[in-house]
Amino acid sequence: MVALDPASFERIVFFTGAGMSAESGVPTYRGHGGVWKQYNWEEYACQDAFDRDPEKVMEFHEVRRKSVLACPPHEGHRVIARLEMNHPGITVVTQNIDGMHQRAGSRNILELHGSLWRLRCPIHGVFEDTGETYERFRCEHCDSRLRPDIVWFGDSLDPEVIRLSVEAIARCNLFISIGTSGVVWPAAGYPEIARKNGALCIEINPEPNPMSHLYDEAVRLPAGEALPVLFSNR
Ligand code: APR
Repeated sequence: MVALDPASFERIVFFTGAGMSAESGVPTYRGHGGVWKQYNWEEYACQDAFDRDPEKVMEFHEVRRKSVLACPPHEGHRVIARLEMNHPGITVVTQNIDGMHQRAGSRNILELHGSLWRLRCPIHGVFEDTGETYERFRCEHCDSRLRPDIVWFGDSLDPEVIRLSVEAIARCNLFISIGTSGVVWPAAGYPEIARKNGALCIEINPEPNPMSHLYDEAVRLPAGEALPVLFSNR
């Protein structure tokens, strides 16, 4: 692996998945010990489950909030956040809902799957709720039940977040995918969008996956080891 000079890339996209947070201790979804191995998503992560038993679903998300807060961002998160301070063209596009990039200091972040730290009222929209436990379960204006602002199974992604993500990826000169199995759409198509524009595409993941052939280079190391080396020239 050679160190990159970030100054030679006008626009850089870091595209992250559960593997980015795994090193901080947040479990992944599909791998060994994955969230969907331990919990049945039909009971915890879809609108039907929420309609059937909202308390059970909210309790599951509170457990996840607590476990995420116990996990500190790692050096890989900090490398990305520091780069953003000196480089105007950095965008993080993440599938993660855990807010780890924000805690490390990144600001220009597009969250494809929403956030554990926001709630949504069907009438009054989205607002932040960032404590260890939820501050409220009902909207203070209309008393509707609030649900996590997360893209659950069967939900649509926010078209505006997709539009901004695709725009950033289509324009970038360096696309670095980190810790994603690459199997969930539309994210699975992103490396190809980056390649069309001639971006250098690098994958950081200890394991290969069905999308690995789309990258110019694979770094088979954990994110927290790979990123400090890749950006040791900054
Ligand atoms: N550094 C880099 N990659 C890692 C590390 C690490 N330290 N540890 C694990 N990985 C890799 C695994 O090899 C795997 O390819 O992270 C990937 C995690 O894959 P998934 O669990 O499938 O997570 P992700 O691709 O983010 O899933 C996408 O699916 O269920 C939904 O909404 C959920 O956002 C999630 C989406």
